[in-house]
Amino acid sequence: MRHFISFEDFSRDEILEIIKLSKKIKAELKNDVKIPHLNGKVLAMIFEKSSTRTRVSFETGFYQLGGHPIFLSSRDIQLGRGEPIRDTAKVISSMSNMIMIRTFGHDRILELAKYSAVPVINGLTDLCHPAQILADYLTIIENGIENPIISYVGDGNNMANSLIMFSAIMGFEIRVATPIGYEPNNQIIQKAKNIAINSGAKIELFNSPVEAVKNSNVVITDTWISMGMEDEKEQRIKDFTGYIVDDNLMSLTSENSIFLHCLPAYRGYEVSESVIDGEKSKIYQEAENRLHAQKGLIVWLNNKI
Ligand code: CP
Ligand code: NVA
Repeated sequence: MRHFISFEDFSRDEILEIIKLSKKIKAELKNDVKIPHLNGKVLAMIFEKSSTRTRVSFETGFYQLGGHPIFLSSRDIQLGRGEPIRDTAKVISSMSNMIMIRTFGHDRILELAKYSAVPVINGLTDLCHPAQILADYLTIIENGIENPIISYVGDGNNMANSLIMFSAIMGFEIRVATPIGYEPNNQIIQKAKNIAINSGAKIELFNSPVEAVKNSNVVITDTWISMGMEDEKEQRIKDFTGYIVDDNLMSLTSENSIFLHCLPAYRGYEVSESVIDGEKSKIYQEAENRLHAQKGLIVWLNNKI
């Protein structure tokens, strides 16, 4: 049995297997071919934070695969009133076949996985958001970019951390530009740099967005104020001045470059309206690919049970 908690537990070949399955399942859906890979199975989805895409894509995807998803908001279940994660994991996994969780501290998903009898999927933690990156990669491939040179501009948050680890394993070039004090997780950077020695990946950190995006073909940003950081909003808006992805920055990227954003986006802050709504932007294809990429992931995990 395997969990999907962070990319560091996965090899390049395994990631490619998941993507291959995702493409196949996406094509089947588009051709109205229904294969109930998860017939009669149940996915428990625990949300301790808000969500639009993650909820809709996992719920729809699991249903389309013939299974039954259950939405569990921490506002309604006993976990939100302090029931231990350990008991929650044992009980829920005794009645379901897979668990997806969106939570705060990464230690919470690790604890859940430790006591779960079924595969656990990361639907975002404060540390990483790997399910999003699967969809991003599918989108990159679909746009004909075989050798991504990825630049990420903004907060060194869960998205940045997962992109770095993913790129390290895949052997890609990733450049991350953050303001001083907002760098990605240092442990992840060190692990990724070690992995890069063998994979051939190139991982570079900058403070200058201009340096980071030069000649890149995939530009990614994310909100400056992630869920749970609302109290820091005023300070962050000041500290991120100059980190907006705008037309000027995009003009430095390669001709065939695309722009991605996991959404929700805040136009006029991390990205200008002209870029996010412009022709290089693939945000809606990226959002839809959450559905397809995760269906590939779910089937892959189910095959490993
Ligand atoms: N990108 C993403 O995870 O979106 P939601 O917060 O809406 O799930
Ligand atoms: N970094 C953002 C991603 C939202 C999908 C957050 O954690 O809120």
